[in-house]
Amino acid sequence: MIKRSFHIVLLVIGIFSCFMCNSAVAAVGISNLRCEMLYNPQGISTARPRLSWQITSDQRNTVQTAYEIIVASSKQKLTRNEGDLWDSRKTISDKSIMVNYAGKPLISRSQCYWKVRVWTNKGISEWSNQPANWSVGLLTPSDWQAKWIGYEHGFPWDSVSKFSRLSARYYRKQFQATQSIKKATVYIVGLGHYELYINGKTIGDQVLAEAPTDYTQSVLYNTFDVTADIQRGDNVIGTVLGNGRFFTMRPKYKPKKIKEFGFPRLLLQLEITYQDGSKKTIISDDSWKFTADGPIRTNNEYDGEEYDATKELIGWNKTGYDDNNWLKPELVEAPGGKIEAQMDAPIKIMDTVKPINIVQLKPGTWIMDMGQDMAGWVQMKVKGNRGDKVTLCYAETLKPDGDLYTANLRDAKATDVYILKGGDEETWHPVFVYHGFRYVEITGYPGAPTISDFIGQVVYDDMANTGQFETSNTLINQIYHNAYWGIRSDYKGMPVDCPQRNERMPWLGDRATGSLGESFVFDNENLYAKWLDDIEQSQKPDGSIPDVAPAYWNYYSDNMTWPGTYILIADMLYNQFADKAPIEKHYASMKKWLGYMRQKYDKNNLMTKDKYGDWCVPPESPELIHSRDSSRNTNGELIATAYYYRMLYLMQHFAVLLNKPADVQLFSTLALEAKNAFNHKFLNKKTLRYDNNTVTANLLPLYFGMVPDADKKVVFNNIVNKITIDAKSHISTGVIGTQWLMRGLTDFGRPDIAYHIAANDDYPSWGYMVKRGATTIWELWNGDTAAPAMNSRNHVMLLGDLIAWFYQDLGGVKADEPGFKTIIMKPAEVAGLDSVSASYQTPYGLVKSNWRRHDKQFDWVITIPPNSKAVVYLPVNSFSGIREGGKRIPAASGFKYLGQDKGEAKIEIGSGDYHFAASNYLSKE
Ligand code: BGC
Repeated sequence: MIKRSFHIVLLVIGIFSCFMCNSAVAAVGISNLRCEMLYNPQGISTARPRLSWQITSDQRNTVQTAYEIIVASSKQKLTRNEGDLWDSRKTISDKSIMVNYAGKPLISRSQCYWKVRVWTNKGISEWSNQPANWSVGLLTPSDWQAKWIGYEHGFPWDSVSKFSRLSARYYRKQFQATQSIKKATVYIVGLGHYELYINGKTIGDQVLAEAPTDYTQSVLYNTFDVTADIQRGDNVIGTVLGNGRFFTMRPKYKPKKIKEFGFPRLLLQLEITYQDGSKKTIISDDSWKFTADGPIRTNNEYDGEEYDATKELIGWNKTGYDDNNWLKPELVEAPGGKIEAQMDAPIKIMDTVKPINIVQLKPGTWIMDMGQDMAGWVQMKVKGNRGDKVTLCYAETLKPDGDLYTANLRDAKATDVYILKGGDEETWHPVFVYHGFRYVEITGYPGAPTISDFIGQVVYDDMANTGQFETSNTLINQIYHNAYWGIRSDYKGMPVDCPQRNERMPWLGDRATGSLGESFVFDNENLYAKWLDDIEQSQKPDGSIPDVAPAYWNYYSDNMTWPGTYILIADMLYNQFADKAPIEKHYASMKKWLGYMRQKYDKNNLMTKDKYGDWCVPPESPELIHSRDSSRNTNGELIATAYYYRMLYLMQHFAVLLNKPADVQLFSTLALEAKNAFNHKFLNKKTLRYDNNTVTANLLPLYFGMVPDADKKVVFNNIVNKITIDAKSHISTGVIGTQWLMRGLTDFGRPDIAYHIAANDDYPSWGYMVKRGATTIWELWNGDTAAPAMNSRNHVMLLGDLIAWFYQDLGGVKADEPGFKTIIMKPAEVAGLDSVSASYQTPYGLVKSNWRRHDKQFDWVITIPPNSKAVVYLPVNSFSGIREGGKRIPAASGFKYLGQDKGEAKIEIGSGDYHFAASNYLSKE
């Protein structure tokens, strides 16, 4: 009897505990496994990757307490939970992002399959069920047996001059696979751009590959698993090489300014493992064949691409093609840079745009309107006779007579040509160039083109759109839309200034703070990490850092504001993504740069060298590009010294992170000296104004913490007066001041002024651009009237800190601990703005802040991702009127009241969904 009841008890316990474990398992899950921030990357550049995952939970306050990671060398082993490469075992830790692989040493070509499970305070997850994997690339130079091939001359139909025309080069190699294939991997460097084919099939969906670098410093390769593409028997591997940045757009022209790398070249290695384990490697060498007499007659990023379909090489990338009269490539020099895996996402066709209108300007000439300024190209459908020639010219705006306005493209021809082969309908778009445009002039089109014959293809780096932002103000929403389009237009394996004119250069200054705003909108971590490498590689031995990196243009002008972006972005990557590696990796070069600047330009602790001033302030008359009015411009030495202080401050912070006490001391001493010298020179002790009292002159020291405490109020008032009285509540800053303006006004208590500036629709303002028909952000506040020489309609630099302010202050979503491990939720409430919905994919998962006020009530819907928490500031003066999920706070669960802070209730919440309603709301109206 006793025995029986004992059994029943056991059974009950069993059922109960099983129920418990089921409910726990159901509540907590794992998703979004990433290796080096990428999903299932092939051919990564490191043997010690960082692994990240996200936790899902149907319960609030979910915090990870431990994890277990298994990494196996095969899928089968992983299924059997055999971590032959690594079994971390249960590891007590709340770390769920950037966990270092710590298993058996990995080597080139290692295949790794992985999964993870977590223990949380709310239960245990199952093993992650998505199949996750990575493979290691070729880590050492000796892994490469392939030889660089190319051809160091032009052909009779090419022209290597300022407006160079160089035809694409088609390479092919036929080979035999004698057995059935177990695994096949291609590693390719195709400079400047490549397309890759196996047996006629395009490999990958990347375009304009691979990411551009200074090829004398580093060369990036891409890796593809082509196991399914190789067949037993005969195979053909083919590549087309375009020019990209390798064969520059303006060769033999301004050689001191424009860097040249030479003619296109290829390095390719195809490694095949047969089922029996034996191996075969196909390498680029002089046994390949090539021709430049194919359909792509020229491809020049500024000038466009010409495609003659009558010259198509039918079947060239398949077996059985007769390549007898093709040429033998030359074995050529390596470009010089170290060969590394590309870790930033490839460029792809990321979106499409349907044209909204097409009109006939004159017989045979049509103007098509895409309705949106964009970067990419149009794909065209056309039917006509062999030899018919269609010309597409791209521009951002139109002249009053409806014709294209191309003056602001400077000497970029921005023209694609397609020659028909005739017969059936033909579909075409260029592959080795892109354009920045809204309008397309079409000539030579057989018959009358209609909008359904064209589609715009938007081309940029394959990065997830991580943020959504919308408010009750439609103008602000349109400005955000314009910014979104501008940002995506200007990512091209590096951030460039503009996509249309003869420039498209990775100017550092344009992204100083903009990169922070952008990081809310796009998952741009790896791109910016790559750009820091570009910047480091452009550093001269003496420490100088250029204004453009990679240094395709030679601009080593030595200033604080453009090169300082190097330090600002490392800081951004740490705060937004918890990525400390860039700080570790670049610390020495950053220190070297600061040392160089100090030694060369520091006079009595003032940084005396500047170049750009507060670039592009609103000028005094509409046609001017740069203001000549000294009261609008800010002293270069003031800007340089304030930035110098900021850089020293950040370096001091980095030195703390990296545990370098001597450097902490060094940077803090230098910072203090710079601050004192700065105040001594620029702060007028009587008026408490900085220098000529521009907004920028006062804002930089105030925001950077250089102003003596006792003077802060007055200095802030200088800014307020300058804006509200002199500038009539409009923007008066350029690229420099605008980087700190919106957050500065908000942090010091006047978000209403920031909002006013943001919501203006008359000149100068972002809203003015919108009102004048802009669908992106202009290079100049007066972009509609200024001279064309420097007047792009698609630049992001004037955004300053606007987008960061949208998310951090209007949405109220700010990282407190790096990577949003803790979040500060503190919306800046301003009169006239009734609601904001902001959401952002943090490394931990989605954070959401949707607030609305109505009928004296403040409603706030919040989501905090698992394993993260937030401190929430509710705009109420007492706790009693707050409801959460309809209940009074004490009855609702999952948060801590931390007290009142400057009239706001401060509450700590864990992960989960919340709906706060505050009836005793302190309206700012
Ligand atoms: C570029 C800018 C850049 C500036 C600096 C311009 O031509 O387009 O974006 O920062 O020059 O000189």
